[in-house]
Amino acid sequence: MIPVCWKRWRLMKTSRPKFKVEAVEFSYSYGDVTALKKVNLGVKKNSLITIMGPTGSGKTTFLRALNRLNDLVGQTSHSGKLLLDGKDVYDRGTDVADLRRKVGMVFAVPTPLPMSVFENVAYGPRKKRVTSKGAIVELVEKALQAAALWDEVKDRLDMPAQRLSGGQKQRLALARTLAVEPEVILLDEPTSGLDPVSTLKIEELMKRLAGSYTIVFVTHNPQQAARLEGEVAFLYMGEMVEFGLARELFTRPRDRRTEDYITGKVG
Ligand SMILES: Nc1ncnc2c1ncn2[C@@H]1O[C@H](COP(=O)(O)OP(=O)(O)OP(=O)(O)O)[C@@H](O)[C@H]1O
Ligand SMILES: [Mg+2]
Repeated sequence: MIPVCWKRWRLMKTSRPKFKVEAVEFSYSYGDVTALKKVNLGVKKNSLITIMGPTGSGKTTFLRALNRLNDLVGQTSHSGKLLLDGKDVYDRGTDVADLRRKVGMVFAVPTPLPMSVFENVAYGPRKKRVTSKGAIVELVEKALQAAALWDEVKDRLDMPAQRLSGGQKQRLALARTLAVEPEVILLDEPTSGLDPVSTLKIEELMKRLAGSYTIVFVTHNPQQAARLEGEVAFLYMGEMVEFGLARELFTRPRDRRTEDYITGKVG
């Protein structure tokens, strides 16, 4: 049964704007290394897209370009457009801190802060200057509910987060992202260190959250992309080779490289 809080959370979310993500002829280079070549892609609001591809294909580069985390790397260049609800994230006027709040990111290895479960989730709202204790308690509970972790931690919110299992730590990372109320969630191979049961939990959660957020999920595993359903983009050597609904791309790939990848001949 879906908890009452979860329903409230969804109601709250549906009244907020949701972002559409588009790449138009987008290229990205680190010095002389071209990591992405003229990528074209459109992600509908409130939907889940999986980006799959072998190592070095540019998946992380694409995610980090979307919330401009790559700005921190020296000597990079890009061309084309990367649009978030029609606005280029590389426009001069972009407030990068605000962009990173709207576009949250979950990494492959969860690294909770050395503090309690509660404080880990409260950290983001506090930084956003939410000061009311009641508001923080409510945000923490909602985020933990939405990340499907609440039932497992509600009686031990003061426990150090380091004591959670790997799968729980990853859901805590998601709760921390959700607590600052992003519009888009980027996930870079979030299940690569998890067992099959925790992996399925995260996948189910993503499908559920896709009704309320725009989710971009990176994986190197085509089976995972198929399980996530929704739309799939195949990146190969920086090129967006194919993009479409999972059930079509996996049954009738249009490009030979996609076929080789999903049948395990490459990657
Ligand atoms: N900071 C960097 N400086 C220089 N080159 C980089 C940097 N980060 C990535 N690259 C290069 O860009 C290309 C794409 O890398 P990226 O990390 O985006 O691939 P990926 O698809 O995420 O791979 P993986 O599955 O191994 O995580 C690679 O050739 C990589 O060597
Ligand atoms: Mg990567």
